[in-house]
Amino acid sequence: MTKLVISQLLLLSWCCLVAVSQGKSLIESNSIVQNFVDDEFEGDDFPSCDVYCRGNLLHTVQMAKLYEDSKTFVDMKLVNSPEKTLADFDKFMESKNQNPSRDDLIKFVESYFSPKGTELEEYLPPDWTKNPSFLDVVHDPDLKQWGKDLNSIWKELGRKMKDDVAKNPDFYSIIPVPNPVIIPGGRFIEFYYWDSYWIIRGLLYSDMRDTARGMIENFLSIVNRVGYIPNGGRVYYYGRSQPPLLTAMVKSYVDFTNDDVFAIKALDALEHEFEYFVNNHSIEVKGHNLTHYRDASTGPRPESYREDIVSAEVFKTEEEKEDHYRELKAAAESGMDFSSRWFINENGTNVGNLTNLKTRSIVPVDLNALLFMNAKIIAEFHSKAKNPDKVAEYEKKAQKLLQGIQEVLWNEEAGIWLDYDMINKKPRDYFVPTNLLPLYAKAFNISESEKISAKVMNYIKKNKLDSFPGGVPNTLYRTGEQWDMPNVWAPMQYFLVEGINNLNTKEAKAMSKDWAIRWVKSNFKAYKDGRHMYEKYNAEEFGGHGGGGEYGVQTGFGWSNGVIIEWLAKHGREISVTGGAKATQLTSIVGIATAVVLALVVAPVLW
Ligand SMILES: *[C@@H]1O[C@H](CO)[C@@H](O)[C@H](O)[C@H]1NC(C)=O
Ligand SMILES: *[C@@H]1O[C@H](CO)[C@@H](O)[C@H](O)[C@H]1NC(C)=O
Ligand SMILES: *[C@@H]1O[C@H](CO)[C@@H](O)[C@H](O)[C@H]1NC(C)=O
Ligand SMILES: *[C@@H]1O[C@H](CO)[C@@H](O)[C@H](O)[C@H]1NC(C)=O
Ligand SMILES: *[C@@H]1O[C@H](CO)[C@@H](O)[C@H](O)[C@H]1NC(C)=O
Repeated sequence: MTKLVISQLLLLSWCCLVAVSQGKSLIESNSIVQNFVDDEFEGDDFPSCDVYCRGNLLHTVQMAKLYEDSKTFVDMKLVNSPEKTLADFDKFMESKNQNPSRDDLIKFVESYFSPKGTELEEYLPPDWTKNPSFLDVVHDPDLKQWGKDLNSIWKELGRKMKDDVAKNPDFYSIIPVPNPVIIPGGRFIEFYYWDSYWIIRGLLYSDMRDTARGMIENFLSIVNRVGYIPNGGRVYYYGRSQPPLLTAMVKSYVDFTNDDVFAIKALDALEHEFEYFVNNHSIEVKGHNLTHYRDASTGPRPESYREDIVSAEVFKTEEEKEDHYRELKAAAESGMDFSSRWFINENGTNVGNLTNLKTRSIVPVDLNALLFMNAKIIAEFHSKAKNPDKVAEYEKKAQKLLQGIQEVLWNEEAGIWLDYDMINKKPRDYFVPTNLLPLYAKAFNISESEKISAKVMNYIKKNKLDSFPGGVPNTLYRTGEQWDMPNVWAPMQYFLVEGINNLNTKEAKAMSKDWAIRWVKSNFKAYKDGRHMYEKYNAEEFGGHGGGGEYGVQTGFGWSNGVIIEWLAKHGREISVTGGAKATQLTSIVGIATAVVLALVVAPVLW
């Protein structure tokens, strides 16, 4: 299919989306959206990718390091069409003997691009309210005020695309979507795929159901247009997705609203995404069909172009360099970019640096557990739709995945699930929170909960995971990468805490609550000190925020806010940050006083 046709198709589908999103639900006109599902589209990419994803212009500008952050350039809007821009760039390069000065290049970029972020406007979600219901259960006055502040941050993170994006999508790197979004914050000024799961849950707890539904509808429309959801809302993320959480987003919305019709109408897109992962990311291991993270594009990551060229320098051949880019992008698809979790050195251990990335050779626990969960939810939605054949089909798919998870990833000796190393044909016995993710996904034999709980609690003890004041670190290895020691991430705390809770034993439930409360208190301390919510935190310091990796400290921050709001809603009655001892004392005084009064009132009656 030619690029031109794709561009028209995108535009056409966009217009329909805009039309239907005004007033009524996009989902109601699924048939319109469905017309734009076209398998041929998969494998090709967006028209503006010629500027933003590859080619000499991208290479020249990014290698000149015109901006501190490589992401800046690829977020700038085109002034002219991609064709004219590229043609004029060729002429410009010719006129400079293929060797422009830095100033020449700045001049070119300034006249052919407008500053980043100009395609988005701030947006105040109309369903935002001052006192959402979750605040009612928060007793501590300081925590309640914090809850209010977090609720207000949704207003700062609301964004809407200008109408021109729909009219001239080829002039932008942003992927057009019909509804406004809540962004993560910091350098992340567009929507991100897996971040949105915790944002959407936070919105639901903040009574912002319309905004949450709008974001889910955006993702459904992207699956229908693109075939899967790219890592984030930019064309340069083409070819990589992120941990598949769309199905769980729909389930969250339906749990809050009981809107079964929404679930049923989403089914086509949810099945499509599930099949995309299972078929397009499959890897055969020990006779089981499981999945791994991978990428379908070529070249360095456009938004970290120069960084990737530099880290590929140790490789001699183009083929080795290209392999390295693919490992980097596969790691980005996992959401854990970057981490020793994906390093395999020549000795088969995790010691190394980015040049040791072997993401594609590792069978990851999380992806397979999440796909199991998705199959179960799809089956559940089909039962709402009264499609018994489809229920059976997806139950069967879930069982197949579960068998693979049990036989390949469960490790009886370690007492936990472990990623599997395809190169050395062995499990990777290193702690990552995703080792426990089957608990969240319920990808384990529920009738063996007692036994699994004992093993998991033992694993937690052996790895001293309960010993960190600022939350459970992402790994126990220090590499300077942002998904390694000592950084702690809200989404992983969430999977751990909610997962352990699913074990349903007394010890596991107690630890789950402990960890949730510790996380809330530590985030509160960081907020009190810096007035910020952070992208990541520090396991070793109560109230400390994280650092390291490819870019500076980011604040905002969508998923961190979402997790705190959910845990305030769940545990808000029991958490106190304002002199906990005093509160207890007061309670017991009130308790004694009540008993005395009761005795005085009741005693005469009994006499
Ligand atoms: C997976 O999808 C990508 C892009 O959509 C495509 O290039 C690739 O051929 C697909 N691979 C398989 C195995 O279907
Ligand atoms: C794995 O998938 C391949 C290709 O779809 C199929 O031929 C094979 O039978 C599957 N194996 C198992 C164990 O399901
Ligand atoms: C691999 O093992 C050898 C021998 O023990 C050691 O000298 C070398 O440093 C190891 N390499 C890495 C990357 O750990
Ligand atoms: C990364 O490891 C490789 C292989 O051990 C080594 O050659 C390279 O110098 C290291 N790079 C950095 C930045 O430490
Ligand atoms: C689950 O555990 C029960 C009790 O140990 C066992 O009888 C059953 O076969 C297990 N089911 C699966 C699918 O492994």
